[in-house]
Amino acid sequence: MIDQKWNEPIGEMEVADTILRYGADILKSDVFRKAADETHHLHGTVLDHTINVCVASLKLSRFFKKRGVKVNERDLIRAALCHDLGMVGREEKYRHRVDSWGKHPKESVRIARSLLPDLSAEEEEMILNHMWPASGSLPGSNEAKILSLADKYASMADWQSWITKRRYAARIKERLEAYMERESEEDSD
Ligand SMILES: [Fe+2]
Ligand SMILES: [Fe+2]
Repeated sequence: MIDQKWNEPIGEMEVADTILRYGADILKSDVFRKAADETHHLHGTVLDHTINVCVASLKLSRFFKKRGVKVNERDLIRAALCHDLGMVGREEKYRHRVDSWGKHPKESVRIARSLLPDLSAEEEEMILNHMWPASGSLPGSNEAKILSLADKYASMADWQSWITKRRYAARIKERLEAYMERESEEDSD
């Protein structure tokens, strides 16, 4: 279903560099580190899924940009990195899974505001409506539409990982995790 051809328009290291360029402050936050321990979609974690969403977002962005569509990749990546942070600690926050589907986008916005003081209304809208049509409103901007599509597409990568027992986009994740580890060691020095 998802193979190397899907990876061609943008290389893995370019994806990792773009995530680091726009999302370093998010990656080194405590809540993002906790995302590495929160299970999501049976096999992976919130972190795994989030990086899958970033990969899918950038690939869709490049696809549409080549066709003349304007996409702000900085806003897209920042929103993608934050879109499911409201799922971290979900056992304590929500009554059950269905409850979390409707409520976590608002919680993700709350967390994103705490991590990014300059979070824009456009970025908030992307996060709030990423679950559409399960919750939220029809995504308005190009970036919000891409994030909502990428979230669904990346969920297939999550399920594919569960079936094949292989980590999707493993090299990108390893590079970002190495960065998070270095930052955490520097914090504790
Ligand atoms: Fe979500
Ligand atoms: Fe998601």
